[in-house]
Amino acid sequence: MITVKSEAEIALMRESGKLTKEVLDLIGREIRVGMTTKDLDKIAYDFIKSCGAYPSFLGYSGYPASICASIDDTVVHGIPSDDIVIRDGQIVSIDVGVVYNGWQGDAARTFMVGNVSEEKRKLVKVTEECFFKAVESLRDGTPLGNIGYNVQSHAEANGFSVVRALVGHGIGKNMHEDPSVPNYGKKGTGIRLKKGMTIAIEPMINAGTYQVEFMPDGWTVKTKDRKPSAHYENTVAITENGVEILTL
Ligand code: MF3
Ligand code: CO
Repeated sequence: MITVKSEAEIALMRESGKLTKEVLDLIGREIRVGMTTKDLDKIAYDFIKSCGAYPSFLGYSGYPASICASIDDTVVHGIPSDDIVIRDGQIVSIDVGVVYNGWQGDAARTFMVGNVSEEKRKLVKVTEECFFKAVESLRDGTPLGNIGYNVQSHAEANGFSVVRALVGHGIGKNMHEDPSVPNYGKKGTGIRLKKGMTIAIEPMINAGTYQVEFMPDGWTVKTKDRKPSAHYENTVAITENGVEILTL
């Protein structure tokens, strides 16, 4: 069931969205070579708690941390660890969810640390662009399939591939609501999005094959060919004439 939010409910999601964005901005300022992904997790946890909010990933289906930290060939859901040290030239995708006054925000950025290769730079840039291509023509009445079509067209035009095994999602009082929001698809297909629907659009784009592999820890997802992957996500609200990006 897809829930439509009132103006008042979207105002509350604007607040949780703002905190979500602030966590990512903070991590963007702090991240550097030599830190562990656990250090970043602690920064996120402390900040979220200091705002009177809660990190929605923590405890979700048993997930043990406040952020996902996914380096290079890890696509998503990398578990922060004291043993994972950030090194020069890596791309680090940070995904975070915040619940505040009962409403969820969910967003991700891929940070480039130090001297990053040309290929990885392009991958990060194109992944961000994929998100903006998806929202460009999005408004009340747009078929859901247009999102995936726009993401996939832009990724593939740049020689990259779109992860199929994981998708974006509706979001509201729960982190994961209907509908599923794939990053691939056909124009003009699927349900029509309506004003007041709120969704997390999250392109996961691979440099090589679209195929992924689920690791034995039950969370970490890597590219099958171990080439790099990038992730970019925002929570958005559909409006009459476009979208409002709640986590930017
Ligand atoms: N942003 C991700 C998602 O939309 C992260 C969920 S990680 C989990 O699915 F640990 F919370 F499951
Ligand atoms: Co999400």
